[in-house]
Amino acid sequence: MQKTSRSDEDTAALARDLASRLKPGDVVLLSGNLGAGKTAFVRGLAEGLGIDPTDVSSPTFTIVHEYRGGRLTLYHVDLYRLERAATGDLGLEEMGVADGVLAIEWPDRLTHDLPGAQTVNLEIVDDQTRQITYSIR
Ligand SMILES: Nc1ncnc2c1ncn2[C@@H]1O[C@H](COP(=O)(O)OP(=O)(O)O)[C@@H](O)[C@H]1O
Ligand SMILES: [Mg+2]
Repeated sequence: MQKTSRSDEDTAALARDLASRLKPGDVVLLSGNLGAGKTAFVRGLAEGLGIDPTDVSSPTFTIVHEYRGGRLTLYHVDLYRLERAATGDLGLEEMGVADGVLAIEWPDRLTHDLPGAQTVNLEIVDDQTRQITYSIR
């Protein structure tokens, strides 16, 4: 599926919409260049899950952030600063299960595929425009 976003709010609205379809154990891989809107998208996911979106920041130094209080716990991981990340080392397999949804920025750093993961790719078209391609139905 593909959508053109023309603002932060467009991106958040799409993410909010997709959040309603997420189930416990779902993993969402967010790819795209720096500034493409991956974190903005996660903010929308949080809101859609009933979590205060202002809690969501770029977890630049903390690799994993955990947001509770919504329909599902949201685990937000940013691998930007890691060269390679073994999923086992990060405990990602355990995180996605049970009560949570796991959103991962820079999944290309992962050494292993996470089976069944859904993908979101954000491409910068211009200042305000993003082409968002996603597999979440
Ligand atoms: N259509 C859009 N969707 C998302 N972000 C946008 C859009 N247009 C402009 N922006 C800006 O792009 C930046 C995206 O930042 P961020 O979400 O942190 O990106 P990333 O996590 O991919 O590095 C923000 O400054 C945001 O305001
Ligand atoms: Mg980010």
